[in-house]
Amino acid sequence: MQSSQLELAPTIPNFLVKLLSRTVLGPPPFPKEPIMLPDTNDIMATGRYYAVAAYDCYNCHSADFKTNSSLEPEKSEGYFAGGNPLLNLEGEVVYSANITPDPETGIGNWTEEQFLQAVKYGKKQDGSSLRYPMLTHTVLPDKEIQEIYAYLRTVPAIHNEVKR
Ligand code: HEC
Repeated sequence: MQSSQLELAPTIPNFLVKLLSRTVLGPPPFPKEPIMLPDTNDIMATGRYYAVAAYDCYNCHSADFKTNSSLEPEKSEGYFAGGNPLLNLEGEVVYSANITPDPETGIGNWTEEQFLQAVKYGKKQDGSSLRYPMLTHTVLPDKEIQEIYAYLRTVPAIHNEVKR
């Protein structure tokens, strides 16, 4: 017997799920145009491109997947203000962090270097590590992380204390 191979039973949607997805729900919206890399001399535009389109930071870091707007991300509830209930590998809830420029509840007081350490290596100022599902991004060039930082300083500051 091959015990090393885990066989997963195929997922079979039941009648109600099929009915709903063919009637009420429909397919999720999808961008109609390809998302192009913006002018790379424009730091804000490339920062937004990485944070929103390429690495999907906004999706976890806005209030809730249910209220995120994939077609108009800026219209997502609590854009970058955290509080999205996510699960760690033990199935426990870990809320995403507020990364708007709010000085008290966001990262308004963070330096670019602190931000880089957190995003690249998951390292916080106090020496602790960021928890899953926040991943490390060691393959990202520093320049991209710096551009994300520059862009995030321009999004509206939202005061939202996230339970950690
Ligand atoms: C899969 C969901 C997810 C994605 C995608 C994600 N994050 Fe996070 N992020 C989190 C969670 C959850 C935390 C809080 C971790 C904790 O409390 O230990 C966090 C924490 C952070 C922090 C630390 C803030 C603080 O106050 O401690 C920063 C900075 C950050 N993320 C930036 C980013 C950037 C930039 C991206 C995109 C490159 C990104 N995150 C993508 C889930 C995510």
